[in-house]
Amino acid sequence: MIGFDLSEEQTALQDMAHKFAANEIRPKAAECDKEGKFPKEIFQKAFDLGLMTGFIPEAYGGLGLGAVEACLIEEELGWGCSGITTSLTCNGLALTPILLAGTEEQKKEFVVPFTREFMFASFCLTEPGAGSDAGGIATTAKKDGDVYLLNGRKCFITNGSYASQYTVFASTDRSKGHKGLSAFIVPRSLPGVSPGKKEDKMGQRASDTADVLFEDVRVPAANLLGKEGDGFKIAMMTLDYARPTVAAMAVGVARAAFELAMQYSKERVQFGMPIAMNQAIHFLLADMAMDIEAARLLTLKGAWLLDQGRRSTKESSFAKAFAADLAMRVTTDAVQIFGGYGYMKDYPVEKLMRDAKLLQIYEGTSQIQRLVIAKEVMMR
Ligand code: CAA
Repeated sequence: MIGFDLSEEQTALQDMAHKFAANEIRPKAAECDKEGKFPKEIFQKAFDLGLMTGFIPEAYGGLGLGAVEACLIEEELGWGCSGITTSLTCNGLALTPILLAGTEEQKKEFVVPFTREFMFASFCLTEPGAGSDAGGIATTAKKDGDVYLLNGRKCFITNGSYASQYTVFASTDRSKGHKGLSAFIVPRSLPGVSPGKKEDKMGQRASDTADVLFEDVRVPAANLLGKEGDGFKIAMMTLDYARPTVAAMAVGVARAAFELAMQYSKERVQFGMPIAMNQAIHFLLADMAMDIEAARLLTLKGAWLLDQGRRSTKESSFAKAFAADLAMRVTTDAVQIFGGYGYMKDYPVEKLMRDAKLLQIYEGTSQIQRLVIAKEVMMR
């Protein structure tokens, strides 16, 4: 059985997210971009509407939405502003490891509070020396009685400055490489946890990206997710869930650029006619529309597999690579259609182009997605 129509509930969620993007996000996006401002008031409103807790099962106080619904919402929010969306939806990335690998007690203690109170959690995988090579983590967690002593520095952490809880990947046995990695829930309140340098980024400037430092942090052994050595798989399984949502955000960014470029091409008169009358512009717009649709379908397929409880590693990477690369292409072509004006900050498309670049880098670069895809198609 196959169908492409959305249910009434899905359409309602999509409409709600679109209205939020149009009324709350878009009006503030340029100012947040210019000033690198983290718009807490927008996040608070999103929380009040349930936009930050949709992915959490009802049993733990969330809306219990599936991955398909999460992607429908994410596309609309990404259409509004991907910087704001990256921070708005980051709790999904940080809390999914607990939902996937946590015990009942851990879910109650470390997930439920995020449905009751507006706060942030961060996913701490990346380090200065371990980006694409996630198995090369140098942060250590040494067992000492009923605590682990956590030491290390994480970088490029979304919402790192504002999070009240971190999901941290650290090595409990460096001799074992990726098999020695373990995942921990680390409350910010523990002594020795401190956010560090905040990054000044090219794009997605409304999202917070910062270092997080861990110095002799005494993490209760009860905060270990799964068993020692499970960390790498927990991180990879989490990324299988997160990558379709990044892809959906990329579709939203591309759609925004396409709409602006199409509208401008009808208004801009050169050689006595709107530039939209030229076939050169038709071909650009047609490619944009076709690729946006293809990216959306790949995204929803990955999300649908996850909702069926099936592995989606290959499809999640298909979606992330295709959609992120497409967003870069479409936003670049949109700037081209706007010509000289497109390059100026007075017009909105240059922001979209800067924002799109990050989509090809975080949550696994476009090259890493191809590595994952190659492994999946060649070895399974
Ligand atoms: N699900 C379950 N298990 C998985 C898996 C998956 N999706 N992917 C891999 N594994 C398992 C493998 O089966 C293998 O198991 P065994 O050891 O039992 O054989 C093990 O994990 C190791 O797998 P690989 O040999 O494939 O590992 P690798 O070292 O070659 O690396 C990689 C794989 C795909 C390159 C991985 O390191 C990777 O995804 N890197 C990119 C990291 C990334 O995306 N970082 C983004 C950080 S988050 C972020 O950006 C958000 C933010 O806040 C900004």
